[in-house]
Amino acid sequence: MMKGIGIDIVKVSRLSERVADKILSDKELKEFKTYLDVNKKRAMQFLGGRLAAKEAYLKAVGVGMYNGISLNQLKVVKDQFGNPTFEDTPNCFLSITHDAGVAVAIVVIY
Ligand SMILES: CC(C)(COP(=O)(O)OP(=O)(O)OC[C@H]1O[C@@H](n2cnc3c(N)ncnc32)[C@H](O)[C@@H]1OP(=O)(O)O)[C@@H](O)C(=O)NCCC(=O)NCCS
Repeated sequence: MMKGIGIDIVKVSRLSERVADKILSDKELKEFKTYLDVNKKRAMQFLGGRLAAKEAYLKAVGVGMYNGISLNQLKVVKDQFGNPTFEDTPNCFLSITHDAGVAVAIVVIY
């Protein structure tokens, strides 16, 4: 049975590099900086995708339950194929896309 669903959309141009450490875990921040060195647009899409993923997750679990949690405590990791999931969070599906200036994420808790 599905226990929760969350979706979020982020306009990438509204983000700045300065908010990265509020949104990203240490490992994500490393990946962000690697992208930033070669392709700023890709880096900001990555950041938008991570923000959308974490906000969608909070919607899926019920924001009230996570009162006070900071987004950089949630960790999105990727498998060998690039498919993202939340680290240490079983029973959870995550999908991210970014194009046309926005990043969108959807989370299902089952
Ligand atoms: C996965 C794939 C469909 C993504 O489509 P796309 O239009 O290029 O990219 P989108 O903007 O829609 O989505 C990008 C996001 O998809 C997610 N993603 C990447 N690979 C994924 C995969 N294998 N499965 C699910 N989601 C994936 C990531 O979160 C990525 O964003 P991020 O890198 O910033 O976290 C495309 O890369 C593809 O067909 N790849 C070939 C299949 C494959 O397995 N490749 C891995 C090679 S080992």
